Amino acid sequence: MNETSEKTGKGAARKRVLSGIQPTGEVHLGNYLGALRQWVHMQDRYECFYSIVDLHAILGEDEPASLPARTLDMAISVLAVGVDPERCTLFVQSDVPEHVELAWLFNTVAPVGDLERMTQYKDKSKRYDSIPVGLLNYPVLQAADILIYRADAVPVGDDQRQHLELTRDIARKWNARYGEYFPEPDAIIPEVGRIKGLDGETKMSKSLGNTVSILADEDGVWESVRRAVTDPQRVRRDDPGRPEVCNVFSLHKLVTDASLISDIEEQCKAGTRGCVDCKRIFADSLVREFAPFRERAEHLRAHPEEVRGVLEAGADRAHEVARETLGEARARMGIKWRSTL
Ligand code: AMP
Ligand code: TRP
Repeated sequence: MNETSEKTGKGAARKRVLSGIQPTGEVHLGNYLGALRQWVHMQDRYECFYSIVDLHAILGEDEPASLPARTLDMAISVLAVGVDPERCTLFVQSDVPEHVELAWLFNTVAPVGDLERMTQYKDKSKRYDSIPVGLLNYPVLQAADILIYRADAVPVGDDQRQHLELTRDIARKWNARYGEYFPEPDAIIPEVGRIKGLDGETKMSKSLGNTVSILADEDGVWESVRRAVTDPQRVRRDDPGRPEVCNVFSLHKLVTDASLISDIEEQCKAGTRGCVDCKRIFADSLVREFAPFRERAEHLRAHPEEVRGVLEAGADRAHEVARETLGEARARMGIKWRSTL
């Protein structure tokens, strides 16, 4: 790598990453530990493209009026956790319409049977009387999001494993028909797996109301953490606890300073520290972890024009790469009649 490429982070030898997040309105601890923290870590080792996927979000969408604000909010959250536009490309999916055209080209090779087998499709299609074709096609657009940048790796949460497998199949099938062109990207899934919600039962998810927001202040964090479910067998403060079954203890291990963990574990087992005290330490860890995020988000909220600038520059950069890939894919598929004139 030469000096300039080291500085700009655009070294030709670096592998490429793409990931996407839906503009849901809130980024919670599960999104952060499951996906966004990796986005931040990967910025220096890979050439990264990160997208806010509004075209995926309009499936089942019943609030179009608030989608632009949610898109901007998501950009603010992503930047707040440390995604740095100087070191990666952050853009809104619908600003780069090539994704949609490539998805159509991929529709010619993606098997309906495979799409029907996706667990997310099977779960979500139950919510409809009449299933929109977009729900079935959702992973084809996701494959296009990834392959239009010819990405080698995709940092995502555990729930996206199957969609990545399908992306690889689509690349393989297309390459077999039109010549080797698309890589088969790897899913990069963090060891933490699926983060359980504060109810200690189901996956942390905004729709289940069991989250703690990464932009919550001290009171907001405590309001969520106070109600977190611990070891259900621990009724009185001095009952011995079972950290191995306590969800708060699992979360502690992900955010609390390692030097405190063995004390927390021992005191829980001995019944010398109550759950409320333990949650206080957990809340403090979160407040500390989130403090820089809140500070950056506050600044960005006060300067929305900066965020717009980042997204516009990101779309320009993404567009350059996307246009080139789409041109090649079209040509190989014979969509090039003008060149015969
Ligand atoms: P979503 O909010 O569903 O668009 O998810 C954004 C990213 O966060 C995806 O990569 C998900 O896989 C990941 N994610 C969401 N919820 C969790 C969770 N509870 N545990 C781990 N990862 C998650
Ligand atoms: N399906 C992903 C989710 O629900 C979002 C997504 C869309 C995505 N396109 C992507 C993730 C491309 C990674 C790469 O979380």
